[in-house]
Amino acid sequence: MNKDILINMIFPEDFVWGTATSAYQTEGNNKNTDWWFWELNKKRGQKYPLEPSGIACDSYNRYKEDFDLAQKMHNNAIRISVEWARIEPECGKFDQNELDHYKKVLVAAKERGLKTYVTLHHFTNPLWFAKKGGWLNLKSSWYFARYAKKCAQELGILTDCFFTINEPQVYTLMCYTIGAWIPNKRNLFYSLLCQINMIKAHNSAYKVIKSIGNYPVGIVKHIVWYETFDQYPKFWDKLAVKFIYFLNTDFFINPILKNLDVIGLNYYLSNQIKNLKAIHPAGMVSNLNWWINPEGLKKILLYLRKYKVPIYITENGLADSEDKLRRVFLKSMLIACYECMQMGVQLEGYFYWSLIDNFEWHEGYWPKFGLVSVNRRTLERKPRKSFYYYSDICQNNSLEV
Ligand code: FCB
Repeated sequence: MNKDILINMIFPEDFVWGTATSAYQTEGNNKNTDWWFWELNKKRGQKYPLEPSGIACDSYNRYKEDFDLAQKMHNNAIRISVEWARIEPECGKFDQNELDHYKKVLVAAKERGLKTYVTLHHFTNPLWFAKKGGWLNLKSSWYFARYAKKCAQELGILTDCFFTINEPQVYTLMCYTIGAWIPNKRNLFYSLLCQINMIKAHNSAYKVIKSIGNYPVGIVKHIVWYETFDQYPKFWDKLAVKFIYFLNTDFFINPILKNLDVIGLNYYLSNQIKNLKAIHPAGMVSNLNWWINPEGLKKILLYLRKYKVPIYITENGLADSEDKLRRVFLKSMLIACYECMQMGVQLEGYFYWSLIDNFEWHEGYWPKFGLVSVNRRTLERKPRKSFYYYSDICQNNSLEV
């Protein structure tokens, strides 16, 4: 590669630099959700969830403080989610106070020069929806589209881009394949049904949002890069890699491709397959033992190019309580992004996960993903060193390597 390019990688002028969070993980007290119910009703001997979310980061009240930090970091965008259970606490009944609350949140972001990327579903469901069978209900996509329409009507003007569903296949896997999350089922038929309903939900939500205004609408897709471990792999390992990757990508994206203005890519890790087991080489891993592999990000971005849809990296980050690897992580991932853009990948933005330490689902609070740490006792926010590193990149719109 050209040496000059290696010295300073300059990103396009309008590149979106942001950080991401989600409602349940940061707001606190999302009591009307299935996840909260699960936390309260943990059975004896049940390992997960490790701890309840409780007040989380109290971002429901402290959102301005959070956005101040994003602004200080020279972000020009923020990715948040809104909580369905707050907006529609009972089936078909919308809570205007909560909608007004989210308007205030979005205005606060705008006032700080942050474009708003809003996810409508980030893992948690209203209790009433869960009681109706959640994502296995044949009307689930209809319920979701009704809620999406309300969000577009009320919040559309303040939203730069809507994402319908966050990581539909991670949700499916955790709830219906592995059964680690509520409703704790292990059933391949349910897994398929959940995915089909989420595909339908995306397509319906896309159409109703568009009927309200021409807001860009995308989905957030978690993709893991898979490769074989051995240089001369067994036939079945090769097949497994192809099959899993297909399930992760085309299987879900093709049926929604007509209704997709942007693809949100969440990339965290890669895996290698050996004798049909997922492993990874010794090397860089996060506190969650996820293999840090920027090459995987590159491979995925180059693969997604064929869809001819603009891409955002909507999440990329690592659990790193001592902030030891975050800088190297960011640098290597952004180099991968830059190189892919040189190769024609239409990448329009990057969101680091996460702005602040938050509730990491069944793992509770121990994994620390934030550029900003949050004291669990006082909830005081404190930028980590990597905060300043990312801040320089955002401010200069370039990466020195
Ligand atoms: C993703 C989730 C996000 C966060 C990160 C670490 O799968 O979308 O909420 O928990 O993992």
